[in-house]
Amino acid sequence: MKQDPRFPNLFITDHPLIQHKLSHMREHDTSTRTFRELLKEITLLMGYEITRDLPLTTREIKTPLVTIDAPVIAGKKLAIVPILRAGIGMSDGLLNLVPSARVGHIGVYRDPTTHMPVEYLVRLPDLSERTFILCDPMVATGNSAVYAVDVLKKRGVTDEQIIFLALVAAPEGVTVFQNAHPKVKMYCASLDSHLDDHAYIVPGLGDAGDRIFGTK
Ligand code: URA
Repeated sequence: MKQDPRFPNLFITDHPLIQHKLSHMREHDTSTRTFRELLKEITLLMGYEITRDLPLTTREIKTPLVTIDAPVIAGKKLAIVPILRAGIGMSDGLLNLVPSARVGHIGVYRDPTTHMPVEYLVRLPDLSERTFILCDPMVATGNSAVYAVDVLKKRGVTDEQIIFLALVAAPEGVTVFQNAHPKVKMYCASLDSHLDDHAYIVPGLGDAGDRIFGTK
């Protein structure tokens, strides 16, 4: 896991497999099917890294031979919350890893003029004692990411219960995010160079939602 001195709560998963798959995703002529599969595979690999610190407890189980106190994840389990619509491409990968996780949805779109998030849907599982993994592949301006964390925090979820999982982030967006939510950990596979005049990430990979769903 790599860190950038500017962003104390940003963790960059620099595993070679993740970096290789991300490079393939960036290519302009990668098909929708391959793009989607690669995002799922990367999310699964990132999910493995970010769940490393989940607290364990023990439960008594019987093996065919003896009874033991076996390690199991402590307390209430995970909730995965994709930010619609591109986040859906990541929640599939996470669900492969934690099939019993609850799934919420936060629907926001980016106003094309102001680039500010506009909410159109919030559906969440019960909130107590869960770890929430918010996911959105692209953290560009950071406004949707900040908004989604606000949605959880307004309902009483604490900073420590939230993990933000992205694929590619821009320094501008991470700055906005860390100013708003300095204690929330964010993970991404790449911290890219900058935003262009249309708030697209450079070098980036284009519009993640369009590339996942094959829309224009
Ligand atoms: N959203 C995307 O899908 N891509 C970008 O580059 C920026 C925001």
